[in-house]
Amino acid sequence: MIKALKGMKDTLFPENEKYSYFIENTSKIVQKYGFSFIETPILEETALFKRSVGESSDIVGKEMYQFIDKGKKDVCLRPEGTAGIVRAFVEAKMDRQGGVKRFFYYGPMFRYERPQKGRLRQFHQFGCESFGESNPLEDANIIIMIKEILDFFDVNYTLELNSLGCPTCLPPFREKLVAFLETTEGFCEDCLRRKSTNPIRVFDCKNPHCQTLLEPAPRLNDALCQECESDFNTLLTTLKQAKIAYTLNPNLVRGLDYYSKTAFEFVSTDLGAQNAVAGGGRYDKLVEFLDGRATPAIGFAIGIERIMDMIKLPDTNREGYYFGALTPEAQTALFQAAHKQREHGKVMQSYEIKSLKAHLKGADKAHARYCAVIGEDELQNNTLWVKDLVEKTEEMRPLN
Ligand code: HAM
Repeated sequence: MIKALKGMKDTLFPENEKYSYFIENTSKIVQKYGFSFIETPILEETALFKRSVGESSDIVGKEMYQFIDKGKKDVCLRPEGTAGIVRAFVEAKMDRQGGVKRFFYYGPMFRYERPQKGRLRQFHQFGCESFGESNPLEDANIIIMIKEILDFFDVNYTLELNSLGCPTCLPPFREKLVAFLETTEGFCEDCLRRKSTNPIRVFDCKNPHCQTLLEPAPRLNDALCQECESDFNTLLTTLKQAKIAYTLNPNLVRGLDYYSKTAFEFVSTDLGAQNAVAGGGRYDKLVEFLDGRATPAIGFAIGIERIMDMIKLPDTNREGYYFGALTPEAQTALFQAAHKQREHGKVMQSYEIKSLKAHLKGADKAHARYCAVIGEDELQNNTLWVKDLVEKTEEMRPLN
């Protein structure tokens, strides 16, 4: 039997209902904040991710689903959404239109990682990207919006924050860090590689020995320039005023190289080892880096599989009608009634003649709100028996 590839899974019932429930409600929340839907291709030129996410990152360095297509182009399945959105933004010349543009998207992403609980090779993200706003109030607004999403789904989380500096303060800090790394022995191979590719990524090393060695290392938050420090302070003050709790995490450097200034992650204690439910930050230089006109930007993505593990579908999410006949004679009247009811919404009809108990079970399985049946008595009286499976009430309705 042919099976799904390792780290890839089908979205079957009831996960499919949860997926739709999540997309529908999250889309509504982000639209309130001015984000509108955008979709970009799943397949892109590999160079896009090399230039944006960065060759030093694990995502590009080790985890890409990359191949040469029939036209001899080096392409890959997108490992994340931001780079494609920025490419589309520049390609459609939106960088030349000025003003603020906000987009949301969702869909599959691909990373050839070692699969484990909460870590898949094909997973889904819901992301938002905001272009043209450099004010740190936008950073706060986005964090408040994510909190609204997580609160809506009753998800527990803590918010971790850091500032990754900018082209003014990062290069001198990088030099200091490299000098420290060169005079300290015992770092793992990955850290030694990062020293020459992207040194601040050493803070993300999971090796406990490297973390001990890093204790006396210089820290970026002590080296921020005036603008980065002032923006970060505005963000922190705004979050405090909005009563959003956060933890400052100087080791939070994110796994993608395009970030500057604000970086954040929402982690949940309900998730185990892969505990990041959402992550994002500012990437003020990326549009320019992908040949666009300089445009500040910030965004984030939620891991849909991770949040789905924590979402409980409310009973009221039951939707529509389930129609079933108790006798063969009732089938025609039922078929017509189901069509009539479909003018008002969703109706699922069972063509099997079954007992009331079996139909109620069928309605429950179909996640319907109402179970409607016609038997001998109903047919004679021209009525439909309806049970509300949420309120647990029953009534007899005239068939017409
Ligand atoms: P990321 O932190 O790489 O950021 O991914 C965002 C979220 O996707 C993670 O917090 C996690 O919930 C989920 N995720 C990542 N890898 C996996 C995996 N292998 N299996 C399941 N879930 C996973 C980005 O991708 C950035 N593009 C976010 C962003 C948007 N930054 C600015 N704008």
